[in-house]
Amino acid sequence: MKTAATLLSLVLLVSSSLQAVAVTPAAPPLAGPPGPLPPKAGGTPPPVPRVHAPPPPPPAGPGHEKGGKFSPPLSGLSAAQIADFIVGKEEFLNEETEESGLGPIFNDVSCVACHFEGGAGGGSRTLVTRFGRVINGVFDPLIELGGPLLQRKAIAPEYREVVPREANVVAHRLTTPLFGAGLIEAIPDAAIAAYAAKVKPDGIKGRAAIVSDPVSAMSRVGRFGWKAQHATLDGFAADAYLNEMGITSRYFSNENAPNGNQALLKLADKVLDPEDALSVGAQKSDLNLAADYMRLLAPVPRLPSTALMKTGEALFGQIGCAVCHVPSLKTGSSPIGALSSQTVNLYSDLLLHDMGALGDGIVQAPAMAQEMRTAPLWGLRLRSLYLHDGRASTVHLAILAHDGEARAVRDRYAKLPPASREALAAFLNSL
Ligand code: HEC
Ligand code: HEC
Repeated sequence: MKTAATLLSLVLLVSSSLQAVAVTPAAPPLAGPPGPLPPKAGGTPPPVPRVHAPPPPPPAGPGHEKGGKFSPPLSGLSAAQIADFIVGKEEFLNEETEESGLGPIFNDVSCVACHFEGGAGGGSRTLVTRFGRVINGVFDPLIELGGPLLQRKAIAPEYREVVPREANVVAHRLTTPLFGAGLIEAIPDAAIAAYAAKVKPDGIKGRAAIVSDPVSAMSRVGRFGWKAQHATLDGFAADAYLNEMGITSRYFSNENAPNGNQALLKLADKVLDPEDALSVGAQKSDLNLAADYMRLLAPVPRLPSTALMKTGEALFGQIGCAVCHVPSLKTGSSPIGALSSQTVNLYSDLLLHDMGALGDGIVQAPAMAQEMRTAPLWGLRLRSLYLHDGRASTVHLAILAHDGEARAVRDRYAKLPPASREALAAFLNSL
């Protein structure tokens, strides 16, 4: 793990981070598709949850965009906060190596390797794979077999993981964007819980995800990830360092053993844990610096409104989309002025909803198999695949795939005349 920034790279980063924000929805570079899933073997498939077929492979594209077209800091940061942003970005882009603790099993070598669409911190078409086993309706994350997350790569071929034969639920997860993440983090738990308690139309409920934050060890309202599985950016970063890159930290000090094989881990793991350690006198390790980058990253600005977009925005409210995709929430007070008492135009209630057939079948504390977090819709125009497993190649298909609590609203959408749908699309494409 290296955070040493040379003067030159600092200067380069400053100029690239601070340049004027002109967002062009140009075709983003694409990540290669994950390898094909090994066929599910053995056992009769459970009725619910289902194993989803892998989505069609995205077209091959050029390599990762490391710098980013859209990745400016929040406006109104102090010079010290800008410096944190720059050092954090360096960490977010930093490629881990075997010597710095990468692996022994991992999914990629840096945060930006997956988070790059539209700029450093964006989402991408990169999918990760989760698995588990349901017996008599009880979900087992198969920890002893290397679950619940598959690590696709390894520092040597003999350590590489496979989806174990015992798994009868396999689900893909698409990489989500991080633009504006600090604003989402700064929304008070109580604001999310208060909306959960409100009576909503169309039988829509929504439940705050209560999670244990690995950093503070406190019970918090989760808001990050497809299952709202984390409440803080440092907590998510610690999880990602371990589970995507194989870097242990003071929050997660045990390496993942290849498919749970501890003997193999002993052979493979040569770097002393925790790999992401605090240097003497420092208050932040690399994972905290990467969290700073996400925290200080600006949200994607909306396009200037046209009459068509305004019509679409009104429809979004009228047919009930806004019951879950709540247009804005407010942050509480934050030590970072730019995050304090701000309106966050995220288009999400950050609650878990029973999405019926759209659920991913994975039970992940605290979400049940069919429960998913309302996906924030800000920045939608920088995306190229939609829904948790990327099954939808267009926003239209993403809406039609809504089920469960969203069924009545989806049906209302399906009945809209073409001109209304066009207006709604124009609005969504302005976010
Ligand atoms: C192999 C690809 C991959 C790598 C590498 C990766 N991520 Fe992610 N990231 C994902 C995926 C997939 C998701 C959605 C995961 C989920 O919800 O289960 C995600 C989600 C997130 C989220 C939640 C955002 C939201 O929508 O609420 C954060 C925060 C995050 N990643 C941070 C990081 C950081 C920090 C790193 C580097 C330490 C990193 N990621 C590395 C694939 C990756
Ligand atoms: C009951 C709550 C609910 C309602 C009502 C609802 N949504 Fe959603 N929406 C969700 C959830 C939950 C997800 C994430 C689904 C998943 O996990 O794949 C989502 C995802 C999406 C996505 C994909 C975002 C992404 O990041 O891939 C779009 C686009 C979307 N919704 C638009 C709409 C529109 C337009 C309407 C109204 C016609 C609507 N939604 C109504 C809960 C809802």
